[in-house]
This record gives sequence, C-alpha cells and structure tokens, in this order.
Amino acid sequence: MTLQHFVMTQPDDWHLHLRDGEMLKAVLPYTARQFARAIVMPNLKPPVTTVGHATAYAQRIRAALPTELIEQGVTFEPLMTLYLTDQTAAEEIQRAKDSGIVQAVKLYPAGATTNSESGVTDLNRCSKALEAMQKNAMVLCIHGEVTHQDIDVFDREAVFIDRVLIPLRHRFPELRIVFEHITTRQAAEYVQSASGPIAATITPQHLLYNRNALFQGGIRPHYYCLPVLKREVHRQALLAAATGGSPKFFLGTDSAPHEQAAKETACGCAGCFSAPFALELYAQAFASVDALDRLEAFASFYGPDFYGLPRNTKKIKLSRVAQKISSPIAAAGGFLVPLGFGEPLEWQFEGPT
Ligand code: DOR
Ligand code: ZN
Repeated sequence: MTLQHFVMTQPDDWHLHLRDGEMLKAVLPYTARQFARAIVMPNLKPPVTTVGHATAYAQRIRAALPTELIEQGVTFEPLMTLYLTDQTAAEEIQRAKDSGIVQAVKLYPAGATTNSESGVTDLNRCSKALEAMQKNAMVLCIHGEVTHQDIDVFDREAVFIDRVLIPLRHRFPELRIVFEHITTRQAAEYVQSASGPIAATITPQHLLYNRNALFQGGIRPHYYCLPVLKREVHRQALLAAATGGSPKFFLGTDSAPHEQAAKETACGCAGCFSAPFALELYAQAFASVDALDRLEAFASFYGPDFYGLPRNTKKIKLSRVAQKISSPIAAAGGFLVPLGFGEPLEWQFEGPT
C-alpha cells in the first residue's frame, strides 16, 4: 500500500528572504506555518550590516507574526545574519557572536544578485572579519557566483569554486561555510568530497526544474532566480545529493518574493517565492526518486546540527492529497506568484500533529 500520511519533525528553513514592511507581513505567515526557524537574509535596502540593524529587524519580524497564528500555537524564531561588506570590522563580528541573535554572516559578491550592490568587491579586503568569524565559529553563508561579465551566467558557480572558494578555504580551513543554494554537479561534488566544516543548502526549484523551465513555450519569469536553473544533469546531481543521506546537504528554500509586476516585465527580478508550498515541493522532489524517508533528516536534522542548534521537537504531518497551486497571492498592494503556479502537487502540509 502506498504511504498516505507522513509525520516528521518540524523543519527549519536555512535560507530565506522575508523582506520588510508590508511585504514582510504578507509573506511571514507562509513560512511560520511550516518552519520553526529560518536563517533570514540581510539583503534589505539598506542592508543589515550591524548587530543594531539585525536586532531591530528581528523585532520587526517577531511583531509581524499574526495574532491568529500565535493563538494557534505557532512560534517562529528568526535567526539573523549580517551582510558582509568590504568595511565589516572584526569588532562587529565579535559583537554579533556576543549578541546571541546573529547566527551567520552573508557573503554576496558585489553585483551577484538582488540588493548586492554593497557586497564584497574583493575577499582580501575582508581578512580581519573572516579571521574573527573563524575564531568565533561564526558561519559564513556564501552566494557562490563570480560576477565577471566574461564568465557565462551558467558557469558562474563552477568558476566561483575554483577561483574563490578553494583559495578561501585554504586561507581559513576552520571557517564554517554554508555554500548556499547550490545549482551544479560541481558544487555538489565539491561539498561532498571536501574535508572540514562546509555544507550546502538546496532549494526546491533546483531539485524540481532544469533550465528548460525558463523557456517552456515562452519566457517564464517565475522560474528565474539566481543562481539560475541549470541543465538536467545538474538537477539530477542535486537530487542525488539531497536524498543521499549526507549531513552536508540540507534545506534552504531561498524563497524570495517579488511582486508579480516586478517579475513580469522587461527586466524581471530574480527570485522564486516558494514559501506557500515549500514542504510540499520538497516532498514532490523526494518522492520522485522514492526517497521520502530521507526528507526528515534533510529538512529537520542536518541544518541545526551544522549550526550547532538543537533540533526541533514538534512534529508536523503531510498527507497525500492532490492539490494544484492555483492562484497568485494578494500581498502588499500587489500579487505574488508562488513557485509551481499552475502545477499539480501530490502532498499537502497539514500542520502540527
Ligand atoms: O534569486 C534570487 N533572489 N537570488 C538571490 O540571491 C537573491 C534573491 C532576492 O533577494 O530576491
Ligand atoms: Zn537568497
């Protein structure tokens, strides 16, 4: 008999964009329903570069959790990050560690993606901050793409490994690194075979789609994110990594909401809004290779283990109920189109058990 229900430890999202203001209020409930905690990205405008900014942002996130959800027993803990710049001081890293609210520092190579203008232009300028992170066991989350115009957009992650990541790890062998939203066979193989404290997150879109999804019958902006979807051979490698039972790979949705109008335009923003059906999408990917029994560890165990945080104890339930992601979601005066819009889903998140 095929499995009809599936109970697992409540997961966390180890890479999430919550934005701010009205958009924060609109999108937070989707994540808080499914996930107990999330690593919250700092690429606001202006970016979250200090412990002071991170503390204030964490308060705004907590205040944005709707009363109805709190009354239903939903709790949500934002795990904050600092945005690394050429100017980040070692003292700020120390303050971040001492604060207890900042769990990681985020490296955006300048110009790599949304709101990365203030990102790092040359990692050599960050030596003091990186030393302080290594010393304090503070995690460095990496958007791993080179940004040179002469490198093909589909090669940017693989080139980043050779030109930036390997030299960085050579200089800071004890630095705890999360190679975020990996998209290539090269990244999966590098992380799998590397010794030392490195892990990677994988998004639902990179497990479910290859780059054909961007051009299926016309241009499809809602499948556009950075790093961009790659060839099928890469998707297969990521699926094997996610479902292979290695603690080096864990869940990070990279849910990145942009208003429909900002996606469906001549120069559309990068980002897939996966929060509304995040677990269902991961379940779909794992079920496609008959590996649902591996989902719990990927979604709920390996992330907290890497970050040195306790695993969640609550349980949640998924049921085999066919559903369709059928309507855009009203948010902040506009609409958001969820990842997988128009597609059938086999699983449904039911909430806590
Ligand atoms: O697609 C993306 N969207 N990739 C990123 O790295 C940033 C994100 C965003 O903030 O919209
Ligand atoms: Zn992201």
